[in-house]
Amino acid sequence: MNAIVIDRLTKVYRSAWFGRPPMPALDGLSLSVQQGEIYGFLGPNGSGKTTTLKILMGLMRATSGNAEILGKPLDDVQIRHRIGFLPEAPYFYEYLTAEEFLAFYGNLAGLERSGLARKITQMLDLVGLAEARTRPLRKFSKGMLQRIGLAQALIHDPELVVLDEPMSGLDPVGRMQVRDLILSLRDQGKTVFFSTHIIPDVEMICDRVAIVVKGKLLAEGRVDELVNPGHAQSVEVVCEGIKAGEVATIRAAASRVLQRGDHSLVVLPGPDQVEPVLSAIRAEGGRLVSVTPQKGSLEDLFMKRSGAPIDGPGRQRDVGGSAE
Ligand SMILES: Nc1ncnc2c1ncn2[C@@H]1O[C@H](COP(=O)(O)OP(=O)(O)OP(=O)(O)O)[C@@H](O)[C@H]1O
Ligand SMILES: [Mg+2]
Repeated sequence: MNAIVIDRLTKVYRSAWFGRPPMPALDGLSLSVQQGEIYGFLGPNGSGKTTTLKILMGLMRATSGNAEILGKPLDDVQIRHRIGFLPEAPYFYEYLTAEEFLAFYGNLAGLERSGLARKITQMLDLVGLAEARTRPLRKFSKGMLQRIGLAQALIHDPELVVLDEPMSGLDPVGRMQVRDLILSLRDQGKTVFFSTHIIPDVEMICDRVAIVVKGKLLAEGRVDELVNPGHAQSVEVVCEGIKAGEVATIRAAASRVLQRGDHSLVVLPGPDQVEPVLSAIRAEGGRLVSVTPQKGSLEDLFMKRSGAPIDGPGRQRDVGGSAE
């Protein structure tokens, strides 16, 4: 059963520039998210992630195309309380304290008054904000606001959780905590659909991923299938004590041989060539230093399909654009 079905969604914002034809922010995007999975929606800045999520949440209309959530059309208000949403730029009532803010959303979601205080404690513990319970939101840091936003999205125990850049603004420990939190939501049987432009965030936790660029779907599938299609992984063998490029068996098997001082680096197109090459190294009196399968990454895939450069400070493997 699908938790989300997106069918040829297109969104054209009206252009602010007179006479300039508007570029679609979404261009026939289709994908589906199965119930119980963690689904990553990966794309560079401006690729249409927030636009897609806003349309799904009923905050904006698509120009054309359809979508369904939990088997219902988007205008079905009955499904709203089964969905938790973390917006990209949540508006916070800055004079409310953390607990007042969560009480407000708990009330909106129709939670029982009696259980609310306990639920608020549980949520603040979950996102690591127990200490800040009575602090007004205007005194929160960016990362703390992100955490209280997550607590807000989860307070009514929704079965589908939609998060727009949930790791944004968080330090490395915070990112890890949010990744663990997302995994625990799946363990509870919930569905998580989240957007990001950070590749490792999807590589580490997602069951499936969609890569979107300029409003179009570049690829969709299981992370391992996208990364290693057909499992044709290349393997790098490093040895010393021989000139591998001068050994006929090795030269025949390798797609590349590099010599650096006493070390030879032999690149093999697949795992089948490993055994014959190791035998040849031994037979020639060489010593094996390492055998390393070259796992592909979503980054490689992204580069191959889109040709987009990877940039951002520290090259933290963002998908293009600037880091947040
Ligand atoms: N309200 C708007 N009016 C006009 N154009 C818009 C509006 N909102 C977004 N866009 C344009 O639509 C495109 C997609 O934007 P969107 O915010 O959906 O991207 P995104 O993938 O969420 O990017 P980011 O990673 O920066 O959050 C961009 O070209 C953006 O300029
Ligand atoms: Mg966005």
